[in-house]
Amino acid sequence: MSEEAPKKKIIFSGIQPTGVPTLGNYIGALRNWAAMQDDYRCVYCIVDQHALTVRQDPAQFRKQILNSYALMMACGVDPEKSVYYIQSHVPAHAQLSWILSCYTQFGELSRMTQFKDKSAKHPENVNAGLFTYPVLMAADILLYQADLVPVGEDQKQHVEICRDIANRFNGIYGNVFTIPEPYIPKREQGARIMSLTDPARKMSKSDENPNGYISILDPPETILRKFKRAVTDSDGEICYREGKDGINNLLAIYSVLTGQTIAQAEEAFSGKGYGYLKEQVGSVTAETLRPIQEEYSRLTADRAYLEQCIRTGAEKAASISARTLAKVSKKIGLI
Ligand code: TYM
Repeated sequence: MSEEAPKKKIIFSGIQPTGVPTLGNYIGALRNWAAMQDDYRCVYCIVDQHALTVRQDPAQFRKQILNSYALMMACGVDPEKSVYYIQSHVPAHAQLSWILSCYTQFGELSRMTQFKDKSAKHPENVNAGLFTYPVLMAADILLYQADLVPVGEDQKQHVEICRDIANRFNGIYGNVFTIPEPYIPKREQGARIMSLTDPARKMSKSDENPNGYISILDPPETILRKFKRAVTDSDGEICYREGKDGINNLLAIYSVLTGQTIAQAEEAFSGKGYGYLKEQVGSVTAETLRPIQEEYSRLTADRAYLEQCIRTGAEKAASISARTLAKVSKKIGLI
C-alpha cells in the first residue's frame, strides 16, 4: 500500500504597506517568507486595511500598496508557489473580524502593548480600528487555518491573542479553527533588529530619524553611511554580550546575512575595531539588498504582470477563506 505524503503545514503572514520595509522587516520576517515556500503551503498578504489605523494620503497609499506588493515579490515571494494577495480584495477578512470581535474582550485588547505604545505616541488619533487591530489580524490568520505564523518578536502578543480567541471560539462551537503557533527567529537570528541610532529600540520605518533604519531600497552608499554612524559602546570589544545592544545588533545582522553563527562572526572580528565591523556589516547588507532592488525595478516596470498576480492571488484567497467563513457562519447560526 502506498503511503500518502504528509500534508504540508499552512503558513500565514502579512505586512503593512506603509513606507518601504526596513532591514528589520526583512531579517525578522520577509526572508523567512521566501524560504518557507517549498516546505509549506504559504499564504501571504499585504494588509492594507491594518494600515488604515493611521491616516494615509490616498494617492500615496495607492502607490505604496502596489509597490509593497512588488517588493515582497522581489524579496522572493512567488505568486505561483504561494497565495499572495491584498487584504481588502478579500472581504472575508473584515467579515470574520466583526464576528471575532464579539468573542474578544475589551480587557484583553486593552492589554496589548502595541495599542498602548501607539496610542501614547499618537494621542490625537486613538481610533477604534487601532484598538481592534489584533482582531482583524486574528481573522487574517484563522481564515486560512494557518498552523504557523512567521513574524518578528513585536508581533508575538498579537499571535497569542489570536490563539486565545480561536480557543475560546472552538470551546463553544467545536473544532472550527486550527490553533496557530508563532514562528519567531531567536534574538541572535534577527527576531528583533534594533535601531542603529538607539539600539535599545527596535528598528522601525516610522522612526523620525532615517539614520535609525536601513530601508530595503536604500542605495549602497546610504547603507554604508548609516552603518558607519551606528551607535555602539566604548569598551572596544567585539563580542555578543548582555548590555552591548549596538554591537549585538551588528553581529546579529552580520551573522544572519552571511549564514555564520554568532561565534564564527565573533571569531572573524576578534582583535578588529568597531569601524571595521561597521564597514563589513554595511557591505554585506548592501550586497544582500542589491539583487532585491534590481528585481524590484524590473517588477514595478511591468504593471500588467503585477495586476494579473494581484487578481489571481485575490481569487485564490477568496476561495480558501470563503470555506472558513461559511463554516463559522453556520456554527453561530447565521442563515
Ligand atoms: P509590520 O508590517 O509592522 O511588520 C512586518 C513583519 O516585520 C517584522 N518586524 C521586525 N522583525 C525584526 N526586527 C524588527 N525591527 C522588525 N520590525 C518589524 C514584524 O514582526 C512583522 O512580522 N500586524 C503585522 C501585520 C499583520 C500580520 C497579520 C502578520 C497583519 N495581519 C497576520 C502576521 C499574521 C504588522 O504590522 O507587521
